[in-house]
Order: sequence, then C-alpha cells, then structure tokens
Amino acid sequence: MPETDTLLPERPDTQAAVGDIPGTLRDIRAAVDTELGVFRRYFRDSVRSDARLLDRVTQYMLRQKGKEIRPLLVLLSAKMCGGVNETAYRAAALVELMHTATLMHDDVVDAAERRRNALSVNALWKNKVAVLFGDFLLSRGLLLSLRHGDYELLHALSNAVSRMSEGELLQIEKTRRLDIDEKTYFRIISDKTASLIAACMGCGALSAAADHSVLDMMRQAGEHLGLAFQIRDDLFDYGAKDIGKPVGIDLQEKKMTLPLIYALADAPAKERRDMLRIVRKKKKSRRDRQAVYAYAERRGGIAYARQKMREHARKARNLIQDMPPTEARNALLGLVDYTISRNK
Ligand code: IPE
Ligand code: IPE
Ligand code: MG
Ligand code: MG
Repeated sequence: MPETDTLLPERPDTQAAVGDIPGTLRDIRAAVDTELGVFRRYFRDSVRSDARLLDRVTQYMLRQKGKEIRPLLVLLSAKMCGGVNETAYRAAALVELMHTATLMHDDVVDAAERRRNALSVNALWKNKVAVLFGDFLLSRGLLLSLRHGDYELLHALSNAVSRMSEGELLQIEKTRRLDIDEKTYFRIISDKTASLIAACMGCGALSAAADHSVLDMMRQAGEHLGLAFQIRDDLFDYGAKDIGKPVGIDLQEKKMTLPLIYALADAPAKERRDMLRIVRKKKKSRRDRQAVYAYAERRGGIAYARQKMREHARKARNLIQDMPPTEARNALLGLVDYTISRNK
C-alpha cells in the first residue's frame, strides 16, 4: 500500500464512495470491516470449551473459515437500516453458528469428505464427532441468544433452521423416489437455504429497529438472494472447478437439481429412462457423469438454471435498490452480484 494512503481521512469522500457497487468479496467486506472483526470475536468466544476433543475440532473449524456471507448479510443489513449494535453482532454470531452446525451435519448426510478447502470434520474424526460437534455449535448459538434475551432473533432463526431440516428431509425423500419436479426443487431450496439467508437480512433489519415495510422487503430480498445462492451452488456440481468441496457429489448422491430436472421435464420417455438409470446407479463412472452433464447441457438445463438464478438475483437487487444510497446498501448490492458470479 502506498505510504500516502495513511494520510487519507478514515472515511474519504462518502459522496464519491456512494456511487460504486463493489465487485469483490474483499471490497464488499470493507463496508463493515471493523464490524466483521467484532463479530469474529463474538463467534470465537461463543464456542470456547474445556473439553479436549471438542476444543481440537473447534480450533480446526475456526481455522477453516468460510466466506462468512450470512454474518456479512446481517451486518450490512443492520448498517443499511440504521446501524450495527450489540444485537446485530449476536445475530451475526448466531447465524454463523447455525450455518456451520448444519454444514457439519450436511457433510454427514451427503458423505462429503471435503469442506472449505480441507478435509471435512466427518472425514477427519468420523460421523459421530461431526454430528455431535454440529449439535454443540447449535446449542452454543441458543445459549448466546438466551443469555441476552434475544427472543425475536431466536424465533426468526429457529424457524429458519427448522425449515432447513424440513428441506433436507424432503430432498432425501425425493432422492429415494427420483420424482422431483421444478416446483418441489424450489420448495426444497427455499427451505434449506433461502430461509436462513432471508432470516439474516431480516435479523439485521430487526436489530436496527427498521419499520415493518422495510423488514418485509428485506426478508423478500433475502428469499430471492437465497434461491439464487443455492442455484449457483447446484451449478458448481456440474462443473470441474475446484471450489474447496467435492463436485459431482449431488449426482453421486442421486440428488437431482435444476439443470437435470429441467432437462428431463418433457424429455422423451426413453431418454428419461436412460438418464434415471444412471442416476440410480450406486457407483457412477466418469462416463456416466459425462453423459448426464452433457444431456443436461444439450437440453438447455444449464442455461435455464442460470437464467433462473439471474432472475432471482435481479429481484433481490431491485428490492434493495429502493433503499437510500449508502455505502452499506451498495455493498449489499455488490453481494447480490457476487453471489451469482462467485467461484467458490
Ligand atoms: C454452503 O454455504 C451451503 C449452502 C447453502 C450451499 P456457503 O457457500 O456459504 O459455505 P461457507 O460458509 O462459505 O463455507
Ligand atoms: C446445502 O446443500 C446445505 C444446507 C443448506 C444445509 P448442499 O448439500 O448442496 O450444500 P454443499 O454443496 O454441501 O455446501
Ligand atoms: Mg452437501
Ligand atoms: Mg451443493
């Protein structure tokens, strides 16, 4: 960094800053840089434990930090709606605890051996430890909120986690019968992913005592953002890029997502049968995977999923755009764009 930078005032010309929509996660984070530091302290403090094995797993988890998109959403939403207070920090810590807990469980459910560019907890310490560690994180989140009487936050976020489990269970049911249609897909991803993302934006607004109409708008924007987020995640599975977690695992686990659902929707009966035969196989070869991906691509499934993803991102953006143009609002708009263009 050039030396002259240190001579600049802490907040340069806000008018000039207000025009830009940041594109990288780093620039987006800059809008709540100090606040993110405080959130991380809350998060770390909430998972302290004297139990030895637990502490080792916790230290491992803390080293493999994720993108922190959900806490970022809480903090940016709070800031945009008036300011970040203690309640917002606790909300951010609570959502990251809940999110991390569900990832621990999700990797057991999906038999996934990699997470955040490293071995998953279930791969390193086995399923038992991952399940119990997930429970530990969840209960520490509950304790954090109870200690401060954050009942409204707890209510909103517990609802989201409950829907998350329902979504994951519905997905398992559909995986067994392979009869998922587009409408059910959207219900699953709304429950398992968008509910928490909507709650993040809602809790940020709530912590800043935003009025009812703003609160409502934030939840709606979060719902659309969450749908776009999960479609992006599902598209990764069709790619070959290293995203720090396994790709191709959805198909391996017989999890049908939008590209394939769309491709099969009105496919000739024989093609449909052939594809489902591959999906049903316990072990899939490279050629099996290639065949399914090529099929989804050829029938426009990939393009359709991308189109839906962009559509939901646009809806989220349009809602947020109505708020007064502040640095936090622009960072939030940047985060919407990042969600659909990210490469991990
Ligand atoms: C992964 O979430 C789980 C999904 C809902 C797809 P993230 O991609 O936000 O995971 P981390 O926290 O950054 O690792
Ligand atoms: C999202 O589903 C997990 C939850 C919302 C609990 P995925 O199974 O697609 O998430 P990744 O891809 O493993 O992160
Ligand atoms: Mg998974
Ligand atoms: Mg996935």
